Amino acid sequence: MTDPNLRVLISAEQIQARIRELGEQISRDYPDGNLHLICILKGAVFFLTDLARAMKRDVFVDFMGISTYGKGKTSSGEVKVTKDLDISLEGANVLVVEDIVDSGITLNYLLHVLQQRRPKSIRIVALLDKPERRVRPVEVSYVGFQIPDQFVVGYGLDYAEKYRNLDAVCVLDDPPRA
Ligand code: IMP
Ligand code: MG
Repeated sequence: MTDPNLRVLISAEQIQARIRELGEQISRDYPDGNLHLICILKGAVFFLTDLARAMKRDVFVDFMGISTYGKGKTSSGEVKVTKDLDISLEGANVLVVEDIVDSGITLNYLLHVLQQRRPKSIRIVALLDKPERRVRPVEVSYVGFQIPDQFVVGYGLDYAEKYRNLDAVCVLDDPPRA
């Protein structure tokens, strides 16, 4: 795709190589017991499918829809579950699969919700992390890449629903800001 506003930040090859490493590391860290991968719609779908196939063990896959309102720089944010899980988490090892951790508002809220369902353990894997933007604390156990405070698209990430199907992560020039 040739778009003059896009600049490749992380290539498709770099993404796939890092996901293979993450899959192996996570498989080693969970040698037994059920492992539930919880994909946060929609952006993390692309990461989930590659990560699940890089795992050296069985996994369950489930989906959760979240919408975040008032994500302006000064807002504390309001999060709503728009699609809930199909499978119970009671006694399960849970790994939340997210595309990017930015302010941390979404995952901070979500962890709170999921903890009430009495999983055995709960961790987060995120393809991308923008630590400079954090306003709520979130412990991310597995990070694909730390990136600077730039608006990125591709590999699941969108701007106004566009660019999700790029195979690389790209910086979008003239970045929009909530
Ligand atoms: P948080 O609650 O601010 O951590 O929000 C994380 C969510 O914001 C991600 O799941 C993305 O949907 C979205 N997001 C954050 N940064 C970017 C970006 O650079 N590009 C596209 N979406 C982003
Ligand atoms: Mg998201």
